[in-house]
Amino acid sequence: MTLGYSSSKPRRLAPELLAGPPELPDRVFRGYQQLIYSEAGIHLGSHKKALLVGRLSRRLRELGGTSFSAYLRRVEEDPEERVRLLDALCTHETRFFREPRHFRFLEDEVLPRWRAQGTPGAGTRRVRVWSAGCSTGEEAFSLAMVLRFHLPAEEGWQIEILATDLSTRILERARETLWPVEKAREIPTHYLKAFMLRGTGSQEGRMKAGPELRSLVRFQRVNLNEEHYPVMGQFDLLFCRNVFIYFDAASRARALDRLLGHLAPQGYFFVGHAESLSSLAHRVRAVQPTIYTAEHTG
Ligand SMILES: C[S@@+](CC[C@H](N)C(=O)[O-])C[C@H]1O[C@@H](n2cnc3c(N)ncnc32)[C@H](O)[C@@H]1O
Repeated sequence: MTLGYSSSKPRRLAPELLAGPPELPDRVFRGYQQLIYSEAGIHLGSHKKALLVGRLSRRLRELGGTSFSAYLRRVEEDPEERVRLLDALCTHETRFFREPRHFRFLEDEVLPRWRAQGTPGAGTRRVRVWSAGCSTGEEAFSLAMVLRFHLPAEEGWQIEILATDLSTRILERARETLWPVEKAREIPTHYLKAFMLRGTGSQEGRMKAGPELRSLVRFQRVNLNEEHYPVMGQFDLLFCRNVFIYFDAASRARALDRLLGHLAPQGYFFVGHAESLSSLAHRVRAVQPTIYTAEHTG
């Protein structure tokens, strides 16, 4: 028997599959560039045209094969559709304990010092953490595991973790606190045993954060490009890693400047492995590459 395509009864392929994505004229692409920059601070260089076409094609098909210029008019008028556009555009790649050096720094340097300074049992110690650009939550939950493990509730430690992202779709997934069980490999065994639950029955193949961990993390939509966003107070640890990859230098510097206003005087600011706070060199001190404090040596 041979396998192949039967010619006995020809069937038509769906026209939208044959046609490929609609064309994106340069003039219309410039409209997208402006809108995306003013909305999210993301600079789409002209070499990113193919990326935009790729990321939006599915949405255009869902809307019945609408053209790029009709879709641009729609996103200009409809704030909800603008959110969908940004959802489709952003890269959400993340992992538990990504850049392990950051978590080792907490375990080896920061948490022992906080514990030594604290007076366990004699009142409440409060730690506030912000995972800005949290994607599906792995960063926030890695922090939750490290902090809860080393700063136990029985010793009076209160932990509050704010996890924010631009993308509403990704936040919906993050709130489920449910990941494929293969991701357990990314988590050190002692944290995995202490805090994660393995799915059984209909949940086979999944892993869920346990209730103790879930109670520490709160999710909220925050666009870091906005001048005013609804985040109050200061944070002892501020993680903003691999978020500004598509920002240009000016919008990145503005967003970082605003974030720094939320760093507690002796807190720590963590950026991604290929990033730096060089635009804020007068306000921060590097304690290690990609780890900063607002505290100056004098
Ligand atoms: C590559 S993920 C990084 C996730 C995590 N911080 C890490 O390092 O593993 C980048 C995240 O930043 C978010 N993001 C992009 N632009 C943003 C903006 N203007 N405000 C807030 N979040 C944004 C994206 O939606 C995406 O989930």
